[in-house]
Parts: sequence; structure tokens; C-alpha cells
Amino acid sequence: MQINYNLKPASERRTQQFKPETNVGFGNLRTDHMFLMDYRDGEWRDPRVVPYGPFEMAPGAMALHYGQSIFEGAKAFMHDDGEIYTFRLNKNAERLNLSGEVVCIPPVPEAMQLAGINALIDVDRLWFPMQDGACLYIRPFVFATEDRLSVSPSQQYTFCVMLSPSGAYYADGFDKAIRLLITERFHRAVSGGTGASKAAGNYAASLRAGKAAAEYGAAQVLYLDANNKQIEEVGAMNHFHVLKDGTIIIPKFTDTILKSITSQSIMELGEALGCEVRQETVMLDQFIADIESGEIVEAGGFGTAAVVSPVGSYIFEDHRVLTVGDGQVGEHTRRIYQVLTDIQKGKRQGPEGWMQ
Ligand code: COI
Repeated sequence: MQINYNLKPASERRTQQFKPETNVGFGNLRTDHMFLMDYRDGEWRDPRVVPYGPFEMAPGAMALHYGQSIFEGAKAFMHDDGEIYTFRLNKNAERLNLSGEVVCIPPVPEAMQLAGINALIDVDRLWFPMQDGACLYIRPFVFATEDRLSVSPSQQYTFCVMLSPSGAYYADGFDKAIRLLITERFHRAVSGGTGASKAAGNYAASLRAGKAAAEYGAAQVLYLDANNKQIEEVGAMNHFHVLKDGTIIIPKFTDTILKSITSQSIMELGEALGCEVRQETVMLDQFIADIESGEIVEAGGFGTAAVVSPVGSYIFEDHRVLTVGDGQVGEHTRRIYQVLTDIQKGKRQGPEGWMQ
């Protein structure tokens, strides 16, 4: 793929490695450039790296009206050799296209996605944040640009990649376990719907539930299935819990749960983690009983942005609080976090091909 470069003048570009003096936070910062490619007449064309900035878009662009828009979240890390390595980017590229299938967005060839992302990282490599626990967060997304108001798949799209020098998703980072709200009032997905896709609308629909969570002093909602029987996921991350024998349980992937690449990685790492990792249907009643009896000792979330986020307690709508173990970050959660982040940072050898 021949990529065109229209870069910012050198005088307006970062000239030294980014050494932030304050916590970069998650998703706040941008780099100098973005990658773009357009879909016209049935093919992706005009791949280019251009200065980061506003798009020109018709007011009738279909993404704005009917929500035909999908995204991904991936990360790159700097290793001791000074090179920047992406983590399992091919899995993100694959998942972008699975998301696209759900909302009728044409696939973006994986090789084109990877070439575009790598070109952008190369151009903006000085934006890698030299801060403990920080990374380059990669946000590829596709949105419908055709100027038409009938409800049918757009014939035109833009694929864009932007980068965000980022730290922890939750303000307190890994060390403070979060609280989740368990509610029957809001649902993220139903079978046959868009829940397994990173469709932008799924996240819009989660905002109201997020507000309710905040009113309960919780970071987010732990979504149940539409019948309020099973534990599904958190929206910004999958859910997991740990049994007292160390077994890690992740709710079974269905068409209402996003297939987190972090969850998949933890499952593939099972042996290296020294414990069994399995997926099963998690019934809410049993989950509560197992926390109360001490059979479940830890819980948390897996996600690209969230990495491994410990959950210390759950709160219900009647304000009842259910504390997992001692409510602090547990040893199993700590080990999972350590192994995964060591691989990402190049401190430990991961499976072949994970870091590129
Ligand atoms: C990610 O983990 O990268 C996500 O896309 C979650 C996000 C909504 C912050």
C-alpha cells in the first residue's frame, strides 16, 4: 500500500521525546498526525498521514444520523531497546471487521489497517509518553460519510486512526479497587443486537447507566442480561472473578458481550499464570452467594484501556453493598496484571507474535 504523507511543518512538530510532567490520564492528549483512508466505489483508497485536525463532513453524513460508526482500541509500548511495539494489533484489526459486519460497514483489509497504524506511529513516535505505566493508545475508527437520509448502508466511509499518549483508564490506576453498580434498570445488549460489536451507539447507550452508577458512587454498571439473571460485562471492559482455588472465570462470549482481546489473552496465558482460566455462564444469584460464602475471592475487569481493573465491591439499587474478599486488590489480580503488563512492556517473553 502506497501511503501519502502530508506532514506538519517540522517547526510545528514535536522534536523531542514526550516526557510529561503530570499524569497524562486516559485519552486526553493527541499526537501531531492522523491516518485517513476513504471508501469509494467499493474500495478503500487514498491512504494518507495528515496533520491531526477537524474533518470536513456533510451535515447529512449518515454516521451522524443513523450511527453507522465503529471503533477499536489498541496499545503500543516502548521497550528497553527504544522501539515501539504494538500489542496484538492483528486481533484489533480482525475485530474491527467483525464490528463492521454487525452495522453493515464494509471490511477494511487487515493489512491496510496495520500498515496505516504502523505508519502513523512511526511518524509520531516522539509522542510516546515517557511515564511509568503510560502507552500510546491507538484509536482506529470507521464512520459513514455519504450525504443521504434514507435508512440503508452508506456507500461511503472514512477510516481514521488517531493516537493518544495515555495512562490508566480509571483515575486511581490499578491500586484502588473500583465499585460497580448492579442494576435491573439498564441493559447494554440483547441477543440478536449489536452487543458484540464496538459500534459507537453501544457506548452512547451506556452513558445514562454510567450516570446512574455515579449517583451510587460506582465507577460503572455491571450489566446483566435482559432477563436480569446473568452477569454480562461492564461496557468499557469484560468482567472476571477469581475462585478461592485461583481459577479465573470470564462470562462466556455471546452475541451480547464484546470479545475482549485482553480476556482472550488471559485465557491464552492460563498456563503462564499458573491457574485455570475458563469461561462460563455466570448466574447473578450464584455469583452473590459465592461472594458471601467466600468461594469467590476477587473480581475485576479486563479491557485494552482498563487493562486489569480490580473490583472491590458491588452496590445494588437498594444501596446494599457486596464486598469481594477484603475489598482490596487481591494477589491473583495483581499477578494477572503483572504478567500481562510485563509482556506488553517487553519485560517478559509473551507468546510468539503478540508484540510487533
Ligand atoms: C478499550 O478498552 O480500548 C475500549 O475501547 C474501551 C473504551 C470505551 C475506553
